[in-house]
Amino acid sequence: TDDHYIHPSILNADFMDIGGELDKIATADSVHVDVMDNHFVPNLTFGPSMVSQIVERSTIGVDAHLMIADADREAPAYAEAGADSVTFHLEAAGAPIKLARDLRRKNTQAGVALRPATPIEPLLDVLGEFDLLLLMTVEPGFGGQSFLTSMLPKIRRARRAISEANLELSIQVDGGVSRETIERCAEAGANVFVAGSAIYRAQDAAEEISALRDLARA
Ligand code: DX5
Ligand code: ZN
Repeated sequence: TDDHYIHPSILNADFMDIGGELDKIATADSVHVDVMDNHFVPNLTFGPSMVSQIVERSTIGVDAHLMIADADREAPAYAEAGADSVTFHLEAAGAPIKLARDLRRKNTQAGVALRPATPIEPLLDVLGEFDLLLLMTVEPGFGGQSFLTSMLPKIRRARRAISEANLELSIQVDGGVSRETIERCAEAGANVFVAGSAIYRAQDAAEEISALRDLARA
């Protein structure tokens, strides 16, 4: 089906030429922007003003993945920066439902992310509060890590719960997604695929995006 989306992550792009790096992925569905604060994860990247500049420059949607502590306080600024979706980590949110409602009120899609070892079960009754469920398939913090195959059953359980509840949530997978792993993610029920190193290390980013899309939709 065509509701499968490829979101390149610019985490491993050339930060000296973000504009040019965005041009390379213009055929993708959205750009995935990894926001890291050096507290929630041991790495530091962009803040709201960079996200707002990316929103202005990008010809495709902007998907902000916040790997930051105190999501309740910090996440709304990324909706105000114009991101199409803002995904915060459940582990970093004190009041995730209130925060999701705040984000939706700002006309942004609300996403909730889980680290690999965080179970989805506590979320199952409140999935309707979110537009997007991000299941990390590596420990967040860095690009280029290898895909955790052990996450496939979690994707499957999430997809089953979403269809049983008749919801239209997207399941996004992030970490180690490549030509080798994307089909298994799609088969398990993911429909939004983040890929960083697979796309930015490819000879031709556009060709890689279309290859990943074909494999996901197969
Ligand atoms: C990791 C980030 C990912 C990362 C993915 O914490 O959330 O978005 O950029 O990179 P790859 O595709 O190389 O695993
Ligand atoms: Zn990410």
